[in-house]
Amino acid sequence: MRERQPEIVECDGKDFDETAARLIWARIASIPSPLVTFPTGSTPLGLYRRLVQEHGTKKNIWHNIRCVSLDEYIGLPPGDERLFARWLGRELLDPAGVPQTNRTMFNSLAADTAKEAARIEQWIAQNGSLDIAVLGLGENGHIAFNEPGSSFDSVTRAVRLSPETRSANAKYWGSLEKVPEEAYTLGLKTLSAARQIFLLVSGAHKAAALDSTLNGPVTPAVPATVLRVHPRVTVIADRAALGR
Ligand code: GLP
Repeated sequence: MRERQPEIVECDGKDFDETAARLIWARIASIPSPLVTFPTGSTPLGLYRRLVQEHGTKKNIWHNIRCVSLDEYIGLPPGDERLFARWLGRELLDPAGVPQTNRTMFNSLAADTAKEAARIEQWIAQNGSLDIAVLGLGENGHIAFNEPGSSFDSVTRAVRLSPETRSANAKYWGSLEKVPEEAYTLGLKTLSAARQIFLLVSGAHKAAALDSTLNGPVTPAVPATVLRVHPRVTVIADRAALGR
């Protein structure tokens, strides 16, 4: 495991969304039929708005993007607006015009969660592994729903959410008790196979997690430190997240 320092792109305010959109679009547009995974959460909202505003008319590209779920809550019915698949559809895939047939998403209601996770893992493997993984960072150092303690060899699977993650997401659910306890996530090994990774980090509340990610020991205790042994990671972060 050779450690490397990820590329860090510092940018603030509107510049954050503009820079993320420019870098991520350049990569998407350079690959004929890219296999991409995108995060939910509040950090990428401005990025998605910009991608749609600036590149929404480039249908030849959007029609060829293949998108796979990054993570998903377990146990929600198909129409539930809190499903990450619906969330991503609303914010990016629908307005950009990514065809439904190009979206491979977790089935939140699958009866056998191990089988469902294996279905997604196999689908990615059969489709040649991820070209681009766009990720956010949890305040506890998670990426996707790979919680602290996740092995760097982990593949796509069902997980129990940590109390910190459930309370960070409670704002979307009205109260902590309503936040699901289980979720699917692409594994750290699955994500590490991506050819290019972008990590988006914004806000002072992420500063401690980003500092551990960039400067702390490389350890499953901080799952995002797996990015330090990947050859092509770009961290797009604002000054507050960088603690400056
Ligand atoms: C959630 C998601 C992650 C996301 C992270 C950060 O727990 N599972 O994929 O990246 O939180 O979200 P936010 O951008 O809202 O801080």
